[in-house]
Amino acid sequence: TTYKVGYFVGSLSSTSINRVLAKALIRLAPEDLEFTEIAIGNLPLYSPDYDQDFPPEATALKDAIRAVDAVLFVTPEYNRSIPGALKNAIDWASRPWGQNSFDHIPAGVIGASIGPIGTAVGQQSLRAVLSFCNARQMTAPEAYIHYTPEVFRADGDVTKDSTREFLRQFMSEYRDHVVRVLTVLPR
Ligand code: FNR
Repeated sequence: TTYKVGYFVGSLSSTSINRVLAKALIRLAPEDLEFTEIAIGNLPLYSPDYDQDFPPEATALKDAIRAVDAVLFVTPEYNRSIPGALKNAIDWASRPWGQNSFDHIPAGVIGASIGPIGTAVGQQSLRAVLSFCNARQMTAPEAYIHYTPEVFRADGDVTKDSTREFLRQFMSEYRDHVVRVLTVLPR
């Protein structure tokens, strides 16, 4: 069996360090995980006015989440919370009322920062949102990544052994979490 993972990169930056982290995670993940990015950059700003008639970008977002077994959020911290673009995407996916795309979905949270706190505060903010959305989050291990260009190469190669093994272990635990949630009750 393979498990389909839809991953969100919380940054719209063309030079995003979180996109580099996502590449590294995919390289280090167990072979039975299959990754597709779920894009957030083309979504209009959510308004309840759209609930009766979602625009195609938002329908595509909900379809993309429906097509995967699990989601993974790889996001920067913006002002001690999550970037507005990511919150906007989550708001879209959670609506219309009664059709929340994240209901019971296995989920993981990770992020990289240029600062030493490594998105810890932003991840707590994201976890609060995902809790309300009823996602089944992996709560441990946590991963707060302090990004340096010496350790993370642009292609996702991780040059430091301890960091590489930590991320490999994180993805192994994430895989087990996904399997556990889906085994209890498939989506
Ligand atoms: C930041 N940055 C940042 N870093 C952090 O550790 N905590 C924070 O609260 C913030 N706040 C913040 C707000 C805004 C608007 C920006 C643009 C940046 C710095 C951030 O870690 C850095 O820009 C990363 O490179 C962002 O990740 P991406 O976009 O490169 O993936």
